[in-house]
Amino acid sequence: MKLVMLGAPGAGKGTQAIKIADKYNIPHISTGDIFRANIKGGTELGLKAKSYMDKGELVPDDVTIGMLLDRIGADDCKNGYVLDGFPRTIPQAESLTRALAERDEKIDYALDINVPDDNIVKRMSGRRACPKCGSTYHVVYAAPKLENICDKCGAELVIREDDKPETVKERLNVYHKQTEPLISYYKNEGILREIDGTQDLEKVFQDIISILG
Ligand code: AP5
Ligand code: MG
Repeated sequence: MKLVMLGAPGAGKGTQAIKIADKYNIPHISTGDIFRANIKGGTELGLKAKSYMDKGELVPDDVTIGMLLDRIGADDCKNGYVLDGFPRTIPQAESLTRALAERDEKIDYALDINVPDDNIVKRMSGRRACPKCGSTYHVVYAAPKLENICDKCGAELVIREDDKPETVKERLNVYHKQTEPLISYYKNEGILREIDGTQDLEKVFQDIISILG
């Protein structure tokens, strides 16, 4: 099963993608997590990505597309994957469709998690992230069992650099301009499924399962 997660920053793409990956036993591929791992490792790619991410802007397509296409060519992707944060622009979506078509493959569903902007700003201020395994928590809605410690791997949780309110606003602007057009793109392909992301996160997951079967 090959899936794309759509939705604004903070809509819950990562939260749901991790649950989907667990249930269907496919890798969770988050371009944001790949960039953050590179920033932490001090790689050239990380240095380049950081300058855009800190401002809430998108990392250029020429960097992002090659990186993602390489990743989905890996052995663990043979039975599918859930893409979280890619594609984010029309050229990214077109490159993905083209690369898959060359291998006679296609995306099965694009899941759009719908959450209005004012909800998003509230959510982001409470988000805590695991720098080691990528799990995401919320101080109120999805608190870890031990304060500030990752349930899965025991690492200390952090606040993401780009979760400052001004940067969140810029990320939302960028989303509406550059990423929202993907909803029409996947609607035209006939594989868009819309999910109400304002519900409790377990209910959001149930809605997703009822689509995927
Ligand atoms: P990325 O890491 O992808 O960030 P994003 O899209 O801005 O999304 P987030 O990770 O902030 O939100 P999410 O939807 O995953 O929500 P989450 O599950 O954490 O990208 C970061 C940056 O990298 C970009 O700005 C860009 O610069 C660059 N980048 C990445 N991919 C790129 C690409 N393809 N092209 C170019 N640049 C790229 O949930 C948010 C919070 O809400 C959490 O605290 C969670 O616990 C809570 N929550 C989740 N669901 C619920 C619920 N139902 N009810 C209540 N709370 C909930
Ligand atoms: Mg995420």
